Amino acid sequence: MTTTPPVIEFKNVSKTFPSRDVTAVHDVSFKVQEGDLVIVIGPSGAGKTTVLRLLAGFEEPDQGEILINGNVVASNRKLVPPEKRGIGMVFQDYALFPHLNVADNIAFGLRKASKREKKDRVSRLLDLIGLPGIEKAYPHELSGGQQQRVSMARALAPKPVLLLMDEPFSNVDAELRTQLREEVREILKHTNTTALMVTHDQQEASEMADYLAILKDGHLEQWGTPHDIYCKPVTMFIANFFGGGMLIPGVVNGDMIESELGSISAPNTVKDGATVKLSVRSENIRLTANAHGVASIYQRRYWGGHYHYSIKLESGMMLQAAQDTESPFDVGQRVDVQVDLQDINIFEE
Ligand SMILES: Nc1ncnc2c1ncn2[C@@H]1O[C@H](COP(=O)(O)OP(=O)(O)OP(=O)(O)O)[C@@H](O)[C@H]1O
Ligand SMILES: [Mg+2]
Repeated sequence: MTTTPPVIEFKNVSKTFPSRDVTAVHDVSFKVQEGDLVIVIGPSGAGKTTVLRLLAGFEEPDQGEILINGNVVASNRKLVPPEKRGIGMVFQDYALFPHLNVADNIAFGLRKASKREKKDRVSRLLDLIGLPGIEKAYPHELSGGQQQRVSMARALAPKPVLLLMDEPFSNVDAELRTQLREEVREILKHTNTTALMVTHDQQEASEMADYLAILKDGHLEQWGTPHDIYCKPVTMFIANFFGGGMLIPGVVNGDMIESELGSISAPNTVKDGATVKLSVRSENIRLTANAHGVASIYQRRYWGGHYHYSIKLESGMMLQAAQDTESPFDVGQRVDVQVDLQDINIFEE
């Protein structure tokens, strides 16, 4: 039985920019299977664009190997030029050719096709992106979101083995962005296109991704489904950056962890005496009225459907808690704070 190789494989890839003395990508390995949408997320300067540029062939790795469909495209012995990699690209400034109309923009990469084939392909792609009949329009006559979709159609026209998108929605407003993310996912799934996309928006990342790749300082910190990463972040950074976890200091005392929330049983992964951070999320906190409780209500806001409280612990530390609307607490009222053990992630410092 033959198994098809992954569409993308990074094997221990590193890239340093000597001019700035930064290792933009450090010993990164991952595989992407056909049809999967992987979202690369991480703070500014984490190396996201560099990963895409390495794949596209605009940067050369210092170490490691990059394979596309099982063929080496970059290693210390071999370097396949960008135009031979069969990759489509959509970048944040869309970069449609201003002097070409929509049809010619989309057909740009179809050099070998006949006139008839080009026309058919353009019209099929315009249907796919929900903009039938705009062949003759020029880029400046289109809205930002329309340009974005045309630029995606242009990238998809030559049926790339892989589509790379670097913050493709950064120039469109919030409402359109929400709409585009659904459409783009649908288009990719419909065409079974393998894609790697960079975004800064965590909500977007969660909603769109089959897999998330979290980068920090050039390292691939975690790879997994949005659900896995949300529930089981492997580092404090990810708990805070991706999961929106609030980090509460604690100390391991025997088989318990003491913190301002009280005592909870310690997992056997932490050492006695260690200082730890407990990561909890606002939706997992339960407040109960108690005149001698560990926290007081600092602020209350109504967020449609639930109340959002800021609560203050004895130490002055603030936590956020989402609660249903029955018998709301008053500002200044003392409360107890409870979190189920299963909803707490514990990180040793
Ligand atoms: N051509 C270059 N020459 C020198 N340094 C570079 C070059 N390209 C990127 N870098 C550096 O490599 C690191 C990673 O850059 P990269 O553009 O990959 O980050 P990013 O995660 O895409 O960030 P952002 O979210 O801001 O777009 C940064 O420190 C950056 O300054
Ligand atoms: Mg970038």
